[in-house]
Amino acid sequence: MTIHLAKNFANLSLLWRAWFVFALGNLLVACGGSEGPSSDPVQPPVIINKAAEKVWDLSRSMGPGINFGNMLDAPNEGDWGLTVKQEYIQAAWAQGFRTIRLPVRWSNHASGAYPYTIDGAFLNRVTSVVDQMLAQGFHVVLNMHHHRQLDGDTIDLGDFLVPDAILEERFVSIWSQIGHHFASRSDKLLFELYNEPHGLLTANRWNALADTTLKQIRISNKERVVVIGPTSFNDPYALSTLVMPADPYLMATVHFYQPFAFTHQGVSWVTPQLPVGTTCCDPEQSSTIFAGIQHSRYWSDATGYPVLLGEFGAYSAADTASRVNYTRLVRQTATANRMPWVYWEFASDFGIYDPVANAFRPELTQALLGN
Ligand code: BGC
Repeated sequence: MTIHLAKNFANLSLLWRAWFVFALGNLLVACGGSEGPSSDPVQPPVIINKAAEKVWDLSRSMGPGINFGNMLDAPNEGDWGLTVKQEYIQAAWAQGFRTIRLPVRWSNHASGAYPYTIDGAFLNRVTSVVDQMLAQGFHVVLNMHHHRQLDGDTIDLGDFLVPDAILEERFVSIWSQIGHHFASRSDKLLFELYNEPHGLLTANRWNALADTTLKQIRISNKERVVVIGPTSFNDPYALSTLVMPADPYLMATVHFYQPFAFTHQGVSWVTPQLPVGTTCCDPEQSSTIFAGIQHSRYWSDATGYPVLLGEFGAYSAADTASRVNYTRLVRQTATANRMPWVYWEFASDFGIYDPVANAFRPELTQALLGN
């Protein structure tokens, strides 16, 4: 049924598709679906801008991508059992990956008082990692990750709180500093404003903050590609609530973890915990995957911005055969819809690399990089 609808949808003109995506998003909001409270009405999407050809060229050259997750996005590097190692960067390149998304918890490494200066030792560490990756030849998507307080989440052990009143000003200031610091790097370095805005970051609040932050970044980086994703944890179905700032050097991003009961079975951070034993991918599960990715594609067609699939993956509690099926299907569907993709993640609990054996897990790696 979903596939049938999706096929008919593909035949509609761009304008009608844009309207449909917008209307569907508003319907979800009205139903209390994936987006914030009704007191925060959603702005109509801006569809008059589109990405410059340079951004499309970049999106086509990004190649297979891998998230270096649970490393610099932990409260302190190493807290979650992994640090970035030169040998990981080399191994990822040798295996055929050409993009690394580098999640970084900047919020835990900047002063709580104006001008919110980023800790020098931490900035040096991130700089040396970014430069190693660029020197290896990678595209690097450098982001802001896990700013728990901004979303209104419980903070992690090792995080520190700042006054709520300065959260947004501090966010913008941190990005302004990152912008100036990395301004001379090549076009292969992309900035991604924020991982999975959600909770207190309603669509209107996030749209305004993204616009203000981008203006600051543009002072030092006139044409660097900046990646922006929608709220509801970068849900493709929230793209209709994302207002892309009037700027041609932007790329959108979504994360896709459907079927969620499969990808997140057994994880500790979903309550109540999802039972293990769910397999993948029956026809209904496959339809969910096609529909979500095609939805992103229609949004891309309607707005003229490439969409990066910045995260997808399945937790290690799922059985290997199902993880392989899922990984191959998502990867193939994203590629068929000309979305560059970045697997979540390298060597932690969704990982394709075994950090004890220092080797790639062959089945998952084949599912990502094979035919
Ligand atoms: C989070 C990870 C989490 C993953 C899957 C990412 O955005 O940063 O901590 O494992 O999503 O839920």
